Amino acid sequence: MKTPIADLLRRYEEEGFARFHMPGHKGRAILGCEHWDITEIAGADSLYEADGIIAESEGNAAALFGTRRSCFSTEGSSQCLKAMLYLALQSRSAGTPPVIVAARNVHRAFLHAAALLDFEVVWLFPAESRSLCSCPISAEMLGRTLASLDAPPAAVYLTSPDYLGGMADIAALAAVAHRHGTLLAVDNAHGAYLRFLTPSQHPMDLGTDLCCDSAHKTLPVLTGGAYLHISRRLGEETAAQAKHALALFGSTSPSYLTLASLDLCNAALAGELPARMHRMAQRLAEIREILRGRGWTVLESDPLRLTIHAPQRAHALAQKLRSGKMECEYADGDFLVLMLTAENREEELQRLLSVLGTNDAPAAEAEALPLAKGERALSIREAFFRPHETIPAAESLGRICAAPTVSCPPAIPIVVSGEVIGAEAVKLFHRYGVETVEVVSL
Ligand SMILES: Cc1ncc(COP(=O)(O)O)c(C=O)c1O
Repeated sequence: MKTPIADLLRRYEEEGFARFHMPGHKGRAILGCEHWDITEIAGADSLYEADGIIAESEGNAAALFGTRRSCFSTEGSSQCLKAMLYLALQSRSAGTPPVIVAARNVHRAFLHAAALLDFEVVWLFPAESRSLCSCPISAEMLGRTLASLDAPPAAVYLTSPDYLGGMADIAALAAVAHRHGTLLAVDNAHGAYLRFLTPSQHPMDLGTDLCCDSAHKTLPVLTGGAYLHISRRLGEETAAQAKHALALFGSTSPSYLTLASLDLCNAALAGELPARMHRMAQRLAEIREILRGRGWTVLESDPLRLTIHAPQRAHALAQKLRSGKMECEYADGDFLVLMLTAENREEELQRLLSVLGTNDAPAAEAEALPLAKGERALSIREAFFRPHETIPAAESLGRICAAPTVSCPPAIPIVVSGEVIGAEAVKLFHRYGVETVEVVSL
């Protein structure tokens, strides 16, 4: 596969141009990568008006992902999910209110989108939840919610995979959304690689209309590299607006280093990377079984993740791994999450097995805390833009949440902006170590 962005950068460097343009380092090495950090010089195209090498590379990505259009972002899914919500709102039927139906475990960037785009949210809560990170929604529950609304929402919005690796039944949920005359938009920040498994488990192959992937989380791409995908189910008009939507939320100085890594990733995905990913997914399935055999509770998750349920011990486990020179992706009181890719080595897996050893600790029970259902006092936008103040979380009962207070990762708001902070939320603040919260001033 051609790599037009990386080719231009190589050529530009080899031809020895004097750089009378941004960035200020002029390609001279401080970190070592500056020679490929350029601006929109002649021939380098422009991300939001792409019709040259960037458009060609994005076309390659669209072919790899089988979409109508796939656009690059150098500002992560945080940018792409705002753009996809904008596109969903723009394509709703005339006269219908700006409403998104969303599973409650959204990333905080979703609330930023709600504040900027001023839409209302109808939240979907799970029948039962054991973590802030998970919000499994059944097709029946979605159908009931959609049937109860006066008009179809602009979109149904899901996060899948979630931070623990829980995967929604996208095919069933997409069918329900479509039956009710709306779109399915998926935050697939953690699942770009799912397209390259056999068969594909990527949301776009299961009926999703709009989707964002943080390429940098699961593919060999620099931080910030992401895709906004638009499916063939949507018309050309929506695809044509994608760049405008992304430009609304992005810097006019996208990183060519990140663009080049997305470009080179195309070539890797067209080459032997999917076969290596497949081998790692198989190896990880074996590792899960070995750990279960040694007494560990390993959750079902997306194929390149290892999630261990260790009530009240996950932080200690993370520390134990750290002592063995291994850093996990995420640990809270109860769950330990490791993200792997084809770039991890067998030696690292052996080290992991050796340090985890056998789980001979007596099983502890984790108190299941329900997700907080706060009463809505203000719209998300009003709450964000009112004067606010920071107060201790333990004293926040009854106050209105202003900006979401999150621990990052997983950056999932415990209380939504505009909601009254209730007793369930105060317990969750304590559980997740949140010490202060932003509330609307009295
Ligand atoms: C579920 C989810 N959505 C969106 C994001 C934002 O992605 P990015 O960091 O690529 O902007 C994250 C980041 O961790 C995430 O976990």
